[in-house]
Amino acid sequence: MKFYITTPIYYVNGAPHIGHAYTTVAADVLARWKRLEGHEVFFLTGTDEHGQKVEKAAAAAGLDPQSFTDRVAEQFREMTAWMGASNDDFIRTTEPRHKRACAALWQRLAERGEIYLGEYEGWYAVRDEAFYAESELVEGPGGTRLAPSGAPVEWVGEPSYFFRLSAWQDRLLAFYDAHPDFVAPTSRRNEVVSFVKAGLTDLSISRTSFRWGVPVPGDPAHVMYVWLDALTNYITAAGFPDERDELWHFWPADLHLVGKDIIRFHAIYWPAFLMAAGLAPPKRVFANGWWTVEGEKMSKSLGNVIDPHELVTRYGLDAVRYFLLREVPFGNDGSLSHRALINRMNVELANDLGNLAQRSLSLLARHCAASLPALAPPTAEDSALLSAAAALPARVSEALDRVAFSEALEEVWKIVRAANAYIDHQAPWALRSSDPPRMAAVLRVLADALRVVATVLQPFMPGSMGRMLDQLGVPANARDLAALATPLPAGMALPAPQAVFPRFVEDAA
Ligand code: MSP
Repeated sequence: MKFYITTPIYYVNGAPHIGHAYTTVAADVLARWKRLEGHEVFFLTGTDEHGQKVEKAAAAAGLDPQSFTDRVAEQFREMTAWMGASNDDFIRTTEPRHKRACAALWQRLAERGEIYLGEYEGWYAVRDEAFYAESELVEGPGGTRLAPSGAPVEWVGEPSYFFRLSAWQDRLLAFYDAHPDFVAPTSRRNEVVSFVKAGLTDLSISRTSFRWGVPVPGDPAHVMYVWLDALTNYITAAGFPDERDELWHFWPADLHLVGKDIIRFHAIYWPAFLMAAGLAPPKRVFANGWWTVEGEKMSKSLGNVIDPHELVTRYGLDAVRYFLLREVPFGNDGSLSHRALINRMNVELANDLGNLAQRSLSLLARHCAASLPALAPPTAEDSALLSAAAALPARVSEALDRVAFSEALEEVWKIVRAANAYIDHQAPWALRSSDPPRMAAVLRVLADALRVVATVLQPFMPGSMGRMLDQLGVPANARDLAALATPLPAGMALPAPQAVFPRFVEDAA
């Protein structure tokens, strides 16, 4: 089966931070997991480069928007690589293929009578690139008016094309009814449904007061509203408007991962645009929560913005990936704390998993002539561990289908803890003199349990789990879930063991 997953495309008004890296890693884990399951995966990420917000950032940097976006987009491309993302494409909205797709989508909407020319008068927040109704505004300091997000708003009055969003209210509600899983988590679904029930007004989809955008076909005085442009990236990358493109079969996307702040665009505007154009809406939109830093909002003014590259340099990529997905249930907000990260590294990675592997592998190296022992008829305890391990992939799969990363990891750690209890109880080091065949049998059970654990953890920690599978002698072409059904041959040579997760020792300085 095919699986198409996306991250939001990131605004290039500033450097990447941990909030961006977070969604990229989450999407990467799902993409890798689906590949491990044998699906045909298309994983897309990229940058959102038009609009006033980016135009202003370029001006502030003293650059023309194209040179500015070229520069910042490169930083996002690098972030994608540092975070170990296995994306199949990286889209930039300034690319010709994307402008072509935007124009084609616009034309389809226009041909179907979904667009009309009018005059927009109302509030706009550049920081959110969003229009707000008077009733949505909140009071800021000194009686100023702010967007509900806290962003400043300005009054805009200009000719504008509109999308007949109001006409889609009932059809959207029917769509949410028919697809109860379309928006998740449930709190976000409720938010979306009540927003739509409260009544939709037509949406302004073009601007005339600045130039940095995709020109409206046939009326170049207008540029397209940046959200119409941005959302279109998901079909551009699948080959739109060429429905014979070899990638088009990936549409509709199976999952858009987005931040909770941009759920309205993805769960209301986007399916409405698509249905209005006669295209299928995505299957699911899942909103993640926001990270604070040691409990404080991340902001340039507080100087606490976390650069993902620094974090990775300090702690290592896999530890950061693990922490981000283990620390908070996906969908909830979380606080990034160095103490919590170090704790998880030392307890769960170095101790629980790292030591288990190290102990098992060094006993195999020393006392089994560095080769894999044969499977012996299992005792009740052997069977209990082996059958729990065998059931693990299905449990992880079930959790990941719910986008519940932390639950998936908890399932893995149940096996890791069970294997630790098993090794302590069996004490293979003591069997060495009393019962060498039993020692070998115990080590084989441990190697098999570790193989399952390392296999299912690959999407989360590709580098270190690759090394663990190397040490377990698992051939590179036998690391997907299907390969677990075939036992490794007895007598297979095992390479010298090496610690996979060193303890993190804090600098005394
Ligand atoms: N360009 C739009 C998305 C267009 S998608 C068609 C955008 N870009 S953004 O760069 O501002 O944000 C991208 C993502 O980063 C959003 O999903 C947002 O929720 C996420 N995050 C930004 N700050 C964050 C945290 N502090 N924590 C977690 N995620 C955060 O919106």
